[in-house]
Amino acid sequence: MNIRLEHVSKQFSNHLAIHNLNLDIRDGEFICLLGPSGCGKSTTLMMLAGLYQPTKGNIFFEDQVVNHLEPKDRNIGMVFQSYALYPHLIVRDNIAFPLKQQKVPKKVRHERAEEAARLVRLENFLDRKPSQLSGGQQQRVAMARALVKEPDLLLLDEPMSNLDARLKIEMRDEIRQLQKKLNITTIMVTHDQEEAMAMADRIAILDQGKIQQFDTPERLFTQPKNLFVAKFLGNPPMNFLDGELFIENGDQLIRGEGFQLKLNKRLNLPTSTKVKLGIRPHEMKVVSEDEGSISAIVTNIEHLGREQLISAKIGKHSVRFFVENETKIKIGEPIHLHPKTDAIHIFSEEMGENLLV
Ligand SMILES: Nc1ncnc2c1ncn2[C@@H]1O[C@H](COP(=O)(O)OP(=O)(O)OP(=O)(O)O)[C@@H](O)[C@H]1O
Ligand SMILES: [Mg+2]
Repeated sequence: MNIRLEHVSKQFSNHLAIHNLNLDIRDGEFICLLGPSGCGKSTTLMMLAGLYQPTKGNIFFEDQVVNHLEPKDRNIGMVFQSYALYPHLIVRDNIAFPLKQQKVPKKVRHERAEEAARLVRLENFLDRKPSQLSGGQQQRVAMARALVKEPDLLLLDEPMSNLDARLKIEMRDEIRQLQKKLNITTIMVTHDQEEAMAMADRIAILDQGKIQQFDTPERLFTQPKNLFVAKFLGNPPMNFLDGELFIENGDQLIRGEGFQLKLNKRLNLPTSTKVKLGIRPHEMKVVSEDEGSISAIVTNIEHLGREQLISAKIGKHSVRFFVENETKIKIGEPIHLHPKTDAIHIFSEEMGENLLV
C-alpha cells in the first residue's frame, strides 16, 4: 500500500510534537523513522495507526484520506515495544486475538494463527503461555499477531529494544526477510542507527518533530544534508574542524588551525565565510609531510583487531581515524593527514546545511 503524509502536524496542548511532516512511502517499502528520544517517532506511528489524529495535514492510504478512520478499519498490524502479549492466553490465542475481534470463526482463526506461527517459526510453541517463552520468542508472537490479519501496513515501534545484542542481529534479518517475502509496506521506529541502516530501504531522520532527511541509508551516510544528519549517523562519528574559506592563486581553499585544504568543487561564497569541515574516520589517511594538508599529534591508539583506531589533536579539535595494523604509530608523535578530497563535507556554520550537496 502507498502511504503519503502531507503537511502533517501534531500538537499536544502546548507541545508541537510533529511539525509539517511530508513523507511519500511506496508499496512494499521498508521505512525506518530514526531519531533521538522525544523527536516524534512514536507520535508519527500512532497517527498512522489511527490512535492519534493529526492536528493539521492529511494522511493518505493510497488515494484515501484516513485522518478520521478508526484503527480497526485500517487493516494495519502493529508491534509495540512492550509486545503487549496477553499473559493468560496461550500463543495460539494470542496470535489469533485480532481475528477473534473480527469475529472470525474459531476453526479458521486457529488455522490462520498456525499459518502465522509458521512464518515466524513458532509452530511448536502454540500451546505455551508467554511466560514460558524467551524474549526472542515473545517478540515473534507479537510479530505473528501483527501479521495474522494479512495487514496492508505493518507498524513496528522499537520491536527489538528488549532483546540482547546477538538476538537483535538475528531478528533484524528475520523481520527483513519476512517483510520482503510478504511484501508488506512496513514502517519501523528505532533510535538505533545501525538497525535502521541494516534494515531500511529508506530512512526518515527526525529531530524535534521535523524531518531532517528522507533517503537511502547509503545517501544519508555519504551525502548528509545537514550537520544533524552528519553527526547522527556513523560510528565513530564524523570528525569536524572549524575553518574559513579563502582564495589563493585562483584556487579555493579552506583553512583552520593546523590545516589547509584545497577544494575540488568551488563554493559560491565570499572569502572568510566560516564553515565546518567534516571528514569520516575512514576517509582520512596518514601521509608524508609534503602530501599532508592537516598536522596532528597522536593522543591515543586503540587496537581493534582488524585495524587501529587513532585519536589525534588538530589544534584544539580532537579527531579519530583508522590505520592498518602494519602502520607504526606512537602516542605523542606529530603526523600528517590527508582526507580523500571527494569524500569531505563542508557545512555552513550558520545553518548547518551541507554546502556540497
Ligand atoms: N499524549 C501526549 N501528550 C503530551 N505530549 C506528548 C504525548 N505523547 C508524546 N508527547 C510528547 O511529544 C514528543 C514526541 O514524543 P514521541 O513519543 O513521539 O517521541 P519518540 O521519538 O517516540 O521518543 P522515544 O525514542 O523516547 O520513544 C515528546 O516531547 C513527548 O513528551
Ligand atoms: Mg517512542
